[in-house]
Amino acid sequence: MNTMELHEAMKARRSIRKFKKDPVPDTSIRELIEAARLAPSGSNLQPTRFVIIKSEAARAQLTEACPLPFVSQAPVVIACCVDMDSFGGMGTRAQELKEAGAFADTPLDKMDPDAYAKRKPMDPAVAEGYLRLNAAIAVDHLTLRAVDLGLGTCWIMMFDQEKVKNILGLSENYRVVALIPVGYPDQNPKPRPRIDLSQIVLKEV
Ligand SMILES: Cc1cc2nc3c(=O)[nH]c(=O)nc-3n(C[C@H](O)[C@H](O)[C@H](O)COP(=O)(O)O)c2cc1C
Repeated sequence: MNTMELHEAMKARRSIRKFKKDPVPDTSIRELIEAARLAPSGSNLQPTRFVIIKSEAARAQLTEACPLPFVSQAPVVIACCVDMDSFGGMGTRAQELKEAGAFADTPLDKMDPDAYAKRKPMDPAVAEGYLRLNAAIAVDHLTLRAVDLGLGTCWIMMFDQEKVKNILGLSENYRVVALIPVGYPDQNPKPRPRIDLSQIVLKEV
């Protein structure tokens, strides 16, 4: 792998808020979801799910749930969700990891996956935060892959959770983490400001 390509994508990515009307090929959408699928997750829980919103009707409905017109104007909107029931699969996921040798030569190899999964459940708010963290990594993979494919994206958290869930017909166990409009950029923004490296490294000890 050429690491410079990844670095170039990181440098080139922008939040895009104006899209061309050109349709996005289904193969590209698949590539985006594939990038998200490769993302790491805690205990390999893989709690992130996506809804692909392409129809005019569904995108028009989104205008009632999100105050930003450019979102529904994009040819595709991907809703990134987490499944709060994912924790039920914890034992299976941990067992798979163990069998794949991920824990070899570490204290984790002595762990009983079932006992691990049956530990005291997390407080619901902590659990949701944990799942959202996993979703964020998947979204970052997706948005960087989009750069590779010449596509623009934007993380959107400004939306009404219940309205979006209703529009998409999602059951109670899902939380919508982000809406991601996807399309060919119709703008070429300069890099957005970032604080200095010296401000983000607290100390070296
Ligand atoms: C967690 C998160 C939530 C965001 N929510 C919104 C949003 O609701 N609306 C919006 O226009 N941009 C949103 N953004 C985009 C940010 O404004 C943007 O990433 C930031 O200003 C830096 O610009 P850049 O992405 O072009 O580098 C969000 C970004 C992140 C990571």
